Amino acid sequence: MSNQPSILIVEDEAGPREALRTVLSPYYNLFTVDRAEVALQILDQQPIDLVTLDLKLPDQQGLDLLSELRRKGIEVEVIIITGYGTLQSAIDAIRHGISAYILKPFNIAELLEVINRTLERRRQLRSLQEALQAFGKLWMDHSDTKATIQHIETILGAKNPELIQHAGRVSFYASLLTEHLGLSSAECEAIQLGAYLHDIGQIGIQERLMLNASRSQQEQELKKCHPVIGERMLSGLSFPTPVYRILRHHHERFDGTGFPDGLSGDRIPLAARIVTLADVFDNLVTGRTGLGPIPIPEAREYLRREAGTSLDPELADFFAKVVW
Ligand SMILES: [Fe+2]
Repeated sequence: MSNQPSILIVEDEAGPREALRTVLSPYYNLFTVDRAEVALQILDQQPIDLVTLDLKLPDQQGLDLLSELRRKGIEVEVIIITGYGTLQSAIDAIRHGISAYILKPFNIAELLEVINRTLERRRQLRSLQEALQAFGKLWMDHSDTKATIQHIETILGAKNPELIQHAGRVSFYASLLTEHLGLSSAECEAIQLGAYLHDIGQIGIQERLMLNASRSQQEQELKKCHPVIGERMLSGLSFPTPVYRILRHHHERFDGTGFPDGLSGDRIPLAARIVTLADVFDNLVTGRTGLGPIPIPEAREYLRREAGTSLDPELADFFAKVVW
């Protein structure tokens, strides 16, 4: 019994609550409650692996309960099960770090599959988290960018080789810029490291699900979450500040229409503006845009065209001169 993962069902309607209990109790250590307040008590007292959460509870909104969990630092997977879902609420929930979003009435087989996949992802993310902690420690002990990057490459390259190759190239292009901009060597190294880690939030994100929303919509919205998720994954690991700025802001646009914060111009940290440029350039020349690779001269033209809209004009101009 104690080896089974623990699941807490937070559901005020007796029908679905009992249905979930019947289906899940053979496989999991199960707790069921009908109110947010009791849910919090249980989560404070018991190690729980996964919560299924109804968005509408008698004493509190499900999303408020979710915020409270995060505020308290309770690390638990959350699957939203609701009759009142909208794409917007699904997106909000994903920003809160939920694992999946299921609309009532749900299909039992589908739900079981989602739960199993979520628990598997939890195991994988834990091992990723341990690896990230090791990178953080390596950095703290030696402040050695090269060794840290090598370590990241070995561990994460096995999980997602394409992403890590992209990371390596973006880091290289970013270093071309920082060297020419006359930044201090500490700043250059921090930017190189941040560039290397910029898309870390994408690892694991593929497993986050919003059932019943269209695939392309899901992918688009999930893509928008990876900067914040990446920043959260590395929080508390004592990397230099620019690393966190890069993770969060590398999809901002110079004209303020980017995400997640819609920052514009100089309000976007310089480190992030540099990595955005390197990222866009790599996407163009390697065909990661989905449009096929384009030759470097055309990519430079693109950067010049985007100067002032998506890209920092001075940096874009500078970069276009540096790469050839
Ligand atoms: Fe990204």
